[in-house]
Amino acid sequence: MSAACRIVSEVGEAVALLAAGGVVAFPTETVYGLGADATNPEAVGRIFRIKDRPTDHPLIVHLADISQMNDWAMEIPDEAYLLAERFWPGPLTLILRRDGRVPDAVTGGLDTVGLRVPGHPVALNLLRRFGGGIAAPSANRFGRISPTTARHVLEELGDRLELIVDSGPCRVGLESTIVSLVGARPQLLRPGAISVADIEAVLGRSRVACPPLSDRPRAPGMHASHYAPRKPFRVMERTLIRESISRMRGAGRKVVVITFLSRVDDLPDNVAFHVMPGNPDDYARELYAVMRALDNGDFDFIVADAPPDALPWQAVRDRLYRAAG
Ligand code: TXA
Ligand code: MG
Repeated sequence: MSAACRIVSEVGEAVALLAAGGVVAFPTETVYGLGADATNPEAVGRIFRIKDRPTDHPLIVHLADISQMNDWAMEIPDEAYLLAERFWPGPLTLILRRDGRVPDAVTGGLDTVGLRVPGHPVALNLLRRFGGGIAAPSANRFGRISPTTARHVLEELGDRLELIVDSGPCRVGLESTIVSLVGARPQLLRPGAISVADIEAVLGRSRVACPPLSDRPRAPGMHASHYAPRKPFRVMERTLIRESISRMRGAGRKVVVITFLSRVDDLPDNVAFHVMPGNPDDYARELYAVMRALDNGDFDFIVADAPPDALPWQAVRDRLYRAAG
């Protein structure tokens, strides 16, 4: 596609490239995105080719501010305005009834569209200067781990991309919370940094339906196996890890454990481990970089111990279990 991919810190070239129908990688507070002009079906088509992503998987349209919401959606319920006013710019994507002007290329032919105003100064600068909506999935190859630094994007897509806008590591580190507002009841489609409790603090208690991961593939691109390392990956309760690891090592496999506990004396001797922060926000920020590094390391098998089944850990648990398939 292009001979050399360049990494820049200013958005000027990216604005020009978007206007010319090109594709650029850019930072957001969640993960790096791979953006194109959302009104240009050919430009949007390039995103799918670069990622090897099936074309029926819908993309999120990124906007500069809330006033652009009705350029892209119609029959917008009051709940959308309440949530957007509270959480935008920020890591929340709203699924709304799409406006007729939204190209099929963006929504995969669905009658809904995902919208988000990202909470990142460089992304907002890019959006304001470009002036329109930017369709953008995460800037990784299809099914792989989302990038949280410009270097990750370069590793994933450097041979297929012209330009990456670099603004350092992403503050949140996991993809946005997705809430659908097109059904009878608001529905959580993907947990993220904004929790169900945060959303219900705005919409009212017990208002949001939260289907379990196994019941959730209601949109293409939502299936459970996603965000995955190439190496075999499992999530296990800590009490089961010791025995499983002994078995795997007995079979001659090099295992590494991602653990959120600082206590490692119950792990088998000489097993490799990576201690994560004990706080869910910090854990989330580091998770994808750690998975990527271990995936590139000299191991045959990656095991993570399961963080607590509690609301603050919901997004982290979701991504760990998806990575495990
Ligand atoms: O944090 C994020 O959301 C990042 C940054 C770049 O904004 N973007 C991101 O995009 O994670 P992507 O394409 O990797 O994941 C978007 C998810 C997909 O699983 C897709 O199925 C879902 O959003 N989605 C998009 N539009 C949808 C729609 N109309 N209905 C249901 N799900 C939708
Ligand atoms: Mg993605």
